[in-house]
Amino acid sequence: MVLYRAAAASGGLSRKPDEITHAYVAGFLHQAVEAGISLMAVRDGQVLGEIHGWPMPQSQFAHVFGDITIAVRPEAQGQGVGRALFQGLIADITTMLPQIRRIELGCRESNARAIALYESLGFVVEGRLKQRVFDEGGFYEDDLAMALLVR
Ligand SMILES: CC(C)(COP(=O)(O)OP(=O)(O)OC[C@H]1O[C@@H](n2cnc3c(N)ncnc32)[C@H](O)[C@@H]1OP(=O)(O)O)[C@@H](O)C(=O)NCCC(=O)NCCS
Repeated sequence: MVLYRAAAASGGLSRKPDEITHAYVAGFLHQAVEAGISLMAVRDGQVLGEIHGWPMPQSQFAHVFGDITIAVRPEAQGQGVGRALFQGLIADITTMLPQIRRIELGCRESNARAIALYESLGFVVEGRLKQRVFDEGGFYEDDLAMALLVR
């Protein structure tokens, strides 16, 4: 919760800090442990970052890995933690979940750092969901649908 609240305060996540509840964190960790993957970056006992996601439950979409969220503590951003977490996730998906062909995520258009990271990993923008995100500043921005084909 400390990590996600701090990351939410720095922007980029789909939740504001007061929407990072115990139920939210327990829920995604439970779902990732049950059916997907959660990876944490830890230094000196402190969680610096986390990434998680899981395959879609319906049989028609069982080859799609989604619901991905990644967060790095603001003071640890820009040091390669996010890249290491995402590379670890892709490596684990390809070895542990051989049915997965497609990894997908959403990212608001203003999150240049995240988009640069995803594109450098091979993700491409497949679509633009216009005015999907409402920002506290009082304006709407587009959400980008991005995907990486792994097989
Ligand atoms: C997006 C986020 C996960 C990236 O993690 P990070 O540890 O800061 O990123 P890294 O240090 O691994 O950098 C990865 C890439 O991001 C890009 N990047 C890093 N800093 C950047 C900056 N200031 N401006 C633009 N791009 C930048 C670069 O492409 C970098 O690649 P490089 O390793 O070749 O330099 C992290 O900033 C974060 O948690 N942000 C808040 C939550 C969030 O936005 N989550 C994603 C929601 S879609």
